[in-house]
Parts: sequence; structure tokens; C-alpha cells
Amino acid sequence: MRIAISTGGGDAPGLNAVIRAIVLCAHTRGWQTYGIRRGYGGLLGDDGIMTLTPDKVRGITHLGGTILGTTNRGNPFRWVVRDASGKDVEVDRSDELIAAFRASGFDALITIGGDGSLKIGYDLWRKGLPVVGVPKTIDNDVTGTLATFGFDTAVATATDAIDKLHSTTESHERVMVVELMGRDAGWIALHSGIAASADVILIPEIPFDIEKVCAKVRAREQAGRHFSMVVVGEGARPLKGGIVLLERRAAGTVDRLGGIGSLVARAISERTGKETRSLVLGHLQRGGSPTTFDRLLGLRFGAAAVRAVADGAFGIMIGYNPPVINRVPMQEVIGKAKHVPLDSDTVLTARELGISLGD
Ligand code: F6P
Repeated sequence: MRIAISTGGGDAPGLNAVIRAIVLCAHTRGWQTYGIRRGYGGLLGDDGIMTLTPDKVRGITHLGGTILGTTNRGNPFRWVVRDASGKDVEVDRSDELIAAFRASGFDALITIGGDGSLKIGYDLWRKGLPVVGVPKTIDNDVTGTLATFGFDTAVATATDAIDKLHSTTESHERVMVVELMGRDAGWIALHSGIAASADVILIPEIPFDIEKVCAKVRAREQAGRHFSMVVVGEGARPLKGGIVLLERRAAGTVDRLGGIGSLVARAISERTGKETRSLVLGHLQRGGSPTTFDRLLGLRFGAAAVRAVADGAFGIMIGYNPPVINRVPMQEVIGKAKHVPLDSDTVLTARELGISLGD
């Protein structure tokens, strides 16, 4: 059995743990494993394919990033090429990819990715490739799994950053606005905001009223708390208004979110007269060594993916749904982002702790 592994989309701490588990669990069965470089690029003549042996994955469980490299521009169904006029256009190279997969003698593809990469895996499966998906993203927005690996590490990093900002914010009696990643889902902002005792948490699932945010800042001021910590998910939006983009989608890419934090900071400063600063935590949230939880989840996902290959269970995604690691049909997952449920215990906890959610 020859298994190909690909890692696509934004990297997430825990990717190397998954790769190591796949390689070792396949090796135990006497199978061979190969890493496709840079998303699917390696199968399309771009950078090639790595043979993965137990030696090659020694000591990588605790390392962030992915030894295979990744890209969020490598969709084989929408591959970007420059045409004769110098314009970027998208072409479908999926047939070419499938031919390269077969020519390499691979028997299975384990694709490790978020919604975008899993959709590519699903489309390849529908075209006949034996595909197993493993959910990855710091955003935790993949349906069919309670958690994706990378999320716990990102939340830990964000919590640590908010903790550090607290002392300077309090010393200067300022309002600090921290913008966190997560795209259209507020998981990172909500979890780290609660854990780090934020006063206001704005998430995409709850459009906010800036007056309510300012009311919280003023109430704290009156209570003798002359500083406030505001956590904003990058996809948060005001009641009247849309999400804020850093960059519109170009061929082969997705929109880049960013900028809501500084807008919120400016509005708070104008309306309350408080000195305000803002900070975008950005890619720090994707870096560093995975937490114990993410390492273990990654290793369990990798092992479960190889078990699925052994059972010939394709077109499925591995899910973490305690107390089990299970298999979820990919069609139940694709195109259905997992958002923070508004009636969840976590949202309720935030409200009962007195945290303003801006509504
Ligand atoms: O999906 C993971 C993520 O980190 C999002 O939270 C963020 O919006 C996006 O990727 C950033 O992507 P890039 O690395 O392309 O800037």
C-alpha cells in the first residue's frame, strides 16, 4: 500500500504530529508513505514528492508548521496561471493531478486541511480518488468534529497575549483592542477572551452595537476600573455594516480579513474620550509548538486516518467527537462552516460573567 499525504491551506500547530502518526502507523503495517509538497503542487510538477520514512519524521511532533510545506493558492480545480496578456486566470488541472496520482502508484490520499482543502479532497474523491480527510484549522470552523487540531494552541497563544496586554493597559488606564484570527467564526476570540478575562468580546456570530461596547467601557470607568480589554474576532461586524477586508480576493486566493480592530478602537476613543490602542495578533496564532491537546489530537487523527485506509473507508473525514474518534461522510461537512452556537454554554458563561458581547 502506498499512501500519499498532502497538507493544504494555512498551517496549524499539530500538522507534523498528524504526518508522523500516518507515517509510523503505515510503517507498522508494512506500507509506504509519500508527502506531496506544497499542497497539491507536488503532483502537478511543482516541487515534487518526498518519500516519508520513520527516520524522516523523527522528532517532529512538537514542531509547528508542516514539513511538507503548504499553500492556500494551490486548488487544482482553480489553478492560477498567467495568460498571454499577463492576466491571472484559473484553469482546472484536476484530471492532470489524478493522472499523476495514478502514475505514482498511490493507493490512497490522506488530505489534511481546513474547509477549502477538504472540499478539494471531496471533489477529488467524487472524481474517483480514494481520499481520507483530516480536519485542520486554528479557526475550529469545520463541521463534523468538536475540535480541529491547532485551535487549542492558537487559543493558548491568544490568551497569553491578552494576559500580557492587561498589565500595560491597566498601567496606562487605556482601552486595548486585540484583533484575533478565525475568519467568519468567533471560536478563538470567544475562548481566549473569556479565559483571559476580557471585558468585551466581539465575534462574527453576534453583530455588535458600538454604543453597547462604549457603555461597558463607561460603566467600568464609573466603577473605578479605568481600563478595558476588548477582544475582536477578525470577522466581527457592526449591526449596520459588513466585515472589514484587508485585501479582496485575487485569482486563486480568498479574501483577507483584517482591520476591524483598529476601527473599533477609533470608534471607542471618539465616543468615550478614552485613550485607546489596538493590536492585531495575526500569524503568531498559527505558530509555535502545539499544545499537548493538539499533539495528541493530531497523533490520534493520523492513526485513525490510516485505520480508515486499512478499512477501505474513503470519502470520509476523521472527526473528534468524544468519547470517540469517528468517520464523518465528507458530504456532511463540505460547505457547512461550524459557528459558535449562540445558546452555547460558553456564550452563556461569558454573559453571566458580565462580559459584553456588544449586543
Ligand atoms: O484559516 C486560518 C487563518 O489563519 C485565518 O484565521 C486567517 O483569516 C487566514 O488564515 C489568514 O491567511 P493568510 O495566512 O493567507 O494570511
